[in-house]
Amino acid sequence: MKHFLKIIAYLIAIIILITGTGAAYISIKGVPNYKAEIPPDILRLKVKPDSVRIARGARIATLLCNECHKGADGKLTGRELKDVPKVFGSAASYNITHDPDHGIGKWTDGELYYFLRTGIRTNGSWAPPFMPKFPLMADEDLYSIIAWLRSDDPSLLADSREYPPNNYNFFVKFLANVAVFPPPLPRGPITIPDTANQVAFGKYIADGLCACYSCHSADFAKQDVLFPEKSLGYYGGGNPMLNLEGEIVPTANITPDKETGIGNWTQQQFYEAVKYGKNPKGGPLYYPMFPHTTLTDTEVSAIWAFIRTVPPLKNKVARYQPKN
Ligand code: HEC
Ligand code: HEC
Repeated sequence: MKHFLKIIAYLIAIIILITGTGAAYISIKGVPNYKAEIPPDILRLKVKPDSVRIARGARIATLLCNECHKGADGKLTGRELKDVPKVFGSAASYNITHDPDHGIGKWTDGELYYFLRTGIRTNGSWAPPFMPKFPLMADEDLYSIIAWLRSDDPSLLADSREYPPNNYNFFVKFLANVAVFPPPLPRGPITIPDTANQVAFGKYIADGLCACYSCHSADFAKQDVLFPEKSLGYYGGGNPMLNLEGEIVPTANITPDKETGIGNWTQQQFYEAVKYGKNPKGGPLYYPMFPHTTLTDTEVSAIWAFIRTVPPLKNKVARYQPKN
């Protein structure tokens, strides 16, 4: 018996040693670097900055970029991300103004395209979870964002203020080593579906462009960024997000389930919720849900058509109640 206990003790010691070494390794290695393998056609990319693209890019950036990159005075010099879950420690977004040294003034269009798809910079460093990647976005929408990033929008004019580089905690390093990886580049061109096909167009706007599913499914760690519909609890809500005060705001179930989702909603209620952040039960929808004011009526109608086709999930979410 004594002998047996000794063996168990040795085994436990070995396991502790191995996990300890693994943890030390991850801690020292940090967020992994990747080789930036930018295909020649992307390296050569030159986005024509026409006014249609710039306007579309500005509209997309209002939905997808500004909330995170906007400093106190409206310039896109970055901010502290107080609303990332506490386990991620502290992090700041970076300066994306035209400043060549503190912003992205020296980046080429191809480098931007590659980074927005994969999160990998030319030096191989990888932007971890907070900075979203856009593997399903249509090429034309990415070109529009790039055209806008180059434009003379006052929020983008060169500004040298920036936050010190992020120093990620163990949890982020761990995730970036074992659970979250850069998405691959698309195998071919991605086009925006025809607006006449409401469901396909709506799915593109919801899943490919705005990534509504990402907040509205069960868990960021269990989502499938290439096949969103395979994410755990697809659109069933309950993902515990944080507001700027650090309080938990679970996301809503927006599947067509009549009891726990929005199966009894009218299209008008949906429209006002998505576009203006209005809760049909009265009052606002709370942050991090935000009014998607720059979505067009065609886009919101298409999301509605699409969301009605999502399999209903029974999942009652305890909604956020403000204290006062
Ligand atoms: C949820 C917050 C968030 C959103 C939304 C977001 N970003 Fe970021 N972004 C970050 C963070 C955090 C970093 C820094 C990541 C790191 O530590 O490497 C970053 C880094 C970047 C960088 C690299 C800057 C550099 O100097 O290395 C670019 C370019 C960028 N973001 C552009 C965008 C664009 C364009 C959008 C919208 C399409 C966007 N971001 C949306 C948080 C965000
Ligand atoms: C950053 C995370 C996030 C994103 C992105 C997001 N939502 Fe939300 N959404 C939430 C949260 C959190 C709530 C719950 C707010 C509350 O309880 O007041 C919510 C609530 C809603 C509601 C109200 C449902 C109800 O029962 O009251 C609708 C409808 C909705 N979102 C639709 C969308 C659509 C469509 C998109 C994409 C265009 C989207 N959301 C993108 C976080 C998000």
